[in-house]
Amino acid sequence: MENFTYHNPTKLIFGKGQLDKLPEEIQPYGKKVLIVYGGGSIKRNGIYDNVLTKLNEFHAEVYELAGVEPNPRISTVRKGVAICKKEGIDFLLAIGGGSTIDCTKAIAAGAKTDVDMWDIVTKKEQALDALPFGTILTLAATGSEMNRGSVITNWETNEKHGWGSPYTNPIFSILDPTHTFSVPRNQTIYGIVDMMSHVLEHYFHQTGNTPIQDRFCESILLTVIETAPKLLNDLTNYEFRETIMLSGTLALNDMLSMGFRGDWATHNIEHAVSAVHDIPHGGGLAILFPNWMKHVLDETNEARFKQLAIRVFAVDPTDKTDRDIALEGIERLRAFWSGIGAPSSLADYSIDASSVEEMAEKTVIAKPRYGNFKELTKQDSIEIFQASL
Ligand code: NZQ
Ligand code: ZN
Repeated sequence: MENFTYHNPTKLIFGKGQLDKLPEEIQPYGKKVLIVYGGGSIKRNGIYDNVLTKLNEFHAEVYELAGVEPNPRISTVRKGVAICKKEGIDFLLAIGGGSTIDCTKAIAAGAKTDVDMWDIVTKKEQALDALPFGTILTLAATGSEMNRGSVITNWETNEKHGWGSPYTNPIFSILDPTHTFSVPRNQTIYGIVDMMSHVLEHYFHQTGNTPIQDRFCESILLTVIETAPKLLNDLTNYEFRETIMLSGTLALNDMLSMGFRGDWATHNIEHAVSAVHDIPHGGGLAILFPNWMKHVLDETNEARFKQLAIRVFAVDPTDKTDRDIALEGIERLRAFWSGIGAPSSLADYSIDASSVEEMAEKTVIAKPRYGNFKELTKQDSIEIFQASL
């Protein structure tokens, strides 16, 4: 493995009833709290009322930014930045899934600079500070609750980019699995696909001697594969929800990538699709990941695919070539995702060949070549999209 430094400053507060810790976690930062949330699920499931009760315990002065979109928009980030500057906000509290948390990260950084946040998202400028913020996670998927990353969309330019900074790790994240009981079936599926994809993005790397990291990855994949079908038959089962919630956090809190760099090409490709078509991130990944795998598989890298196929998808290697074992593993991944109800083709979102060129162009906006396991170009994007139609 390569040399590395690992530092994750987010305090993880996990379990039933942990919302009680909210006042003591926020109080040191001040009283002016901006709560940030999405389209209203937290009002329907009661989380909003419970949070306000907790904030009242220390007489917080509460401000609100509601309506953060799935695939959060730079326009909403700008609204939040304006509130922070006008009201002198001390602390931000994200209540929701990855979109709400990512939007809050961008607001936190934007509140501390005069630079427009889109210039920071597109890496023309850098974040140099951020307001402190915490999260109350309501959907297990992205891992944003314990990492520094944020993904923001600009609908004026049809671009969606990931960015991050040393200042945008949450101070704390409260993960109560009961907060995810109301997540509908489709969003639960997308979350499962997303967390598995994060593990796979790590798994496909070119650095030697990473046996413990490989087995961390495999254990998360095996656990999610075992638990997901049970959860989808019993959406309010506490134990299944807690297992999936912890899996989602561990899949992208950077613990898995100690000593190497993962691939992340499929995320780049998916972000291009949702920048043009506004589809759910996990839905896009379910379509694209197996096709990325088939596209990059060759004799120089098939050992890694073979290891995944045997250890995670229980492919019997007897009398098979390495390539056949690898391909069987990819088919089992596809079958697993289809079996839990994830989409398998861009046609499932009414996306046809007419937008392949536009989407492919978006995959190389930031860099002409992308992907660390195997470097790809726009032509590769086109071929992966064509295989996904
Ligand atoms: O907006 P509300 O009304 O809250 O409804 C949301 C939304 O419609 C709903 N929801 C969330 N919690 C719920 C619930 N509904 C009922 N009960 C609950 N408890 O679910 C819908 C989707 O929410 P969203 O936050 O968009 O989902 P997710 O967590 O999957 O986040 C997706 C975004 O995160 C980005 C994606 O690109 C996408 O923009 N990502 C962020 C990453 C990161 N920061 O590390 C990494 C990921 O790879 C990903 O790219
Ligand atoms: Zn993802």
